[in-house]
Amino acid sequence: MERRKKIYLGTNTKMYKTTEQTVAFLKRLNELTQDISRDRMELFVIPSYTTLTAARESVPRESILLGAQNMGWEEQGQFTGEISPLMLREAGMDIVMVGHSERRHVFRETDAEENKKVLCALQHAFRPLLCVGETAEEKDFGIAEEVLRTQLKVGFHGVTPEQAKTVWVAYEPVWAIGVNGVPASKEYADHIHKVIRDTLAERFGAEIGGDIPVLYGGSVNPQNAEGLIRMPYIDGLFIGRSAWDADNFNSIIRTVLPLFEEKRKKEAAV
Ligand code: 13P
Repeated sequence: MERRKKIYLGTNTKMYKTTEQTVAFLKRLNELTQDISRDRMELFVIPSYTTLTAARESVPRESILLGAQNMGWEEQGQFTGEISPLMLREAGMDIVMVGHSERRHVFRETDAEENKKVLCALQHAFRPLLCVGETAEEKDFGIAEEVLRTQLKVGFHGVTPEQAKTVWVAYEPVWAIGVNGVPASKEYADHIHKVIRDTLAERFGAEIGGDIPVLYGGSVNPQNAEGLIRMPYIDGLFIGRSAWDADNFNSIIRTVLPLFEEKRKKEAAV
């Protein structure tokens, strides 16, 4: 469980924050979290495309990893409006988020398209952060597990176990995300995280699949962060609104980090 020894904490700023606001946010977050060793935590931020170069220059990557919210799956071509892996490499990105629920549901991206992006991100040595999650309707029909297994199996189709050593997964139930979202209970989230863990282990073997970090996202807030991070299968939190103010994000980080470490210590003792 090498990779999962540390906690994963990140935010996606969606279509919010100008370059000036993103840079100010990153600088403040960096300053507030300076004393926390990065051996204990993987801290990352996924801002808007136009902010990326300035964002990367504003804080060291050893403190805060940065990623893009989406990526085209070709290096170049007649794809108006798309951003290529070469452009993201030039902007100094480390992570590429693939399949965020808003991409899948607002922009109608398919599992097969997410797969092309995952493969392309890996070819260009990015860490793909594959987001998966069922809709409320799929949950009500009792097919959440099947949907997630499908999203994972299609999303990671053609990915080798060696490549899987760099991927991250976020479970973000569609019904839990955003202003109208209802946060998943910690029990439900943990149950689904176990399904995801088992699917990854089945796909990449117990050692490599068992070590892929799986983060929970969807209306994480200062009240529920504590309960979620105590759950055995949750390796980190992927936060929207509650992390967009650096002081609030810092206070969530300081609440969950010791709880996470206590959990890992207890696990190691059994
Ligand atoms: P909220 O925390 O605002 O629900 O957003 C979560 C999310 O979409 C992170 O990618």
